[in-house]
Amino acid sequence: MKLNQVQNYDEMSRQAASILISQVRQNPSSTLGLATGGTPLGIYACMVADHRENATSYAQVSTVNLDEYVGLKESDSQSYHFYMQRNLFSHIDIPRDATHIPNGMSPDLLAECRRYDDLLNSLNGVDIQLLGIGANGHIGFNEPGTSFQARTHIVELTETTRAANGRYFPSLQDVPHKAITMGIASIMESRHILLLASGTNKAEAVYALFCDEVSEQNPSSILKKHANVTVIADEAALILAKQKGCVEHPRKTS
Ligand code: PGA
Repeated sequence: MKLNQVQNYDEMSRQAASILISQVRQNPSSTLGLATGGTPLGIYACMVADHRENATSYAQVSTVNLDEYVGLKESDSQSYHFYMQRNLFSHIDIPRDATHIPNGMSPDLLAECRRYDDLLNSLNGVDIQLLGIGANGHIGFNEPGTSFQARTHIVELTETTRAANGRYFPSLQDVPHKAITMGIASIMESRHILLLASGTNKAEAVYALFCDEVSEQNPSSILKKHANVTVIADEAALILAKQKGCVEHPRKTS
């Protein structure tokens, strides 16, 4: 894994956005794997600003999102469909039918998992997959204990994850218990993986990512087996990994 150490959230966001924008400029029909949550908000803001200022076009880009809650309508302000529209898609020139997010409202969720896998297979591979990291090491909604062989599946969210995401809901009770997520095997097929981590609440997860062995109890650990992963992490997220000596102190640049 290549590590880009940055000072803070803003630097992480600018650097990640610039990698995505370069990808789209080099290959206008790229497939981007997108994520939700607090981490990518700054990246999407940079991409929207760049689209306005430099006219980077997404007219031929396709996107696939990692996950969606089960039971939230697209119009629900907490759904990831809503999040993507609000934070990125409605501000750039991407055609709506080129954006793909699992449907957590499907009456047949197993069929929806198969549909999403078929879609991923039909897209000729994801060029860059954006990933946040959960405090418990999850990637997408692949919680600890998920098989590394998993494809799109339904997950029972851990209480740690529900509590972390509860900040966006009126109360913890409103946070869904289930989600539909792209599996780890599919994530690993992306050509380039960009994992972002910012803040001390990610320090344990980043420590485990760099210092612990590969184990299904730590979903992010599988990324060590991928040939092209870039981790962009800030000082706060790296604090434990540095203290334990798994990550070098000197600052590297990309
Ligand atoms: P966050 O979530 O970006 O809201 O911290 C990351 C994740 O849970 O994967």
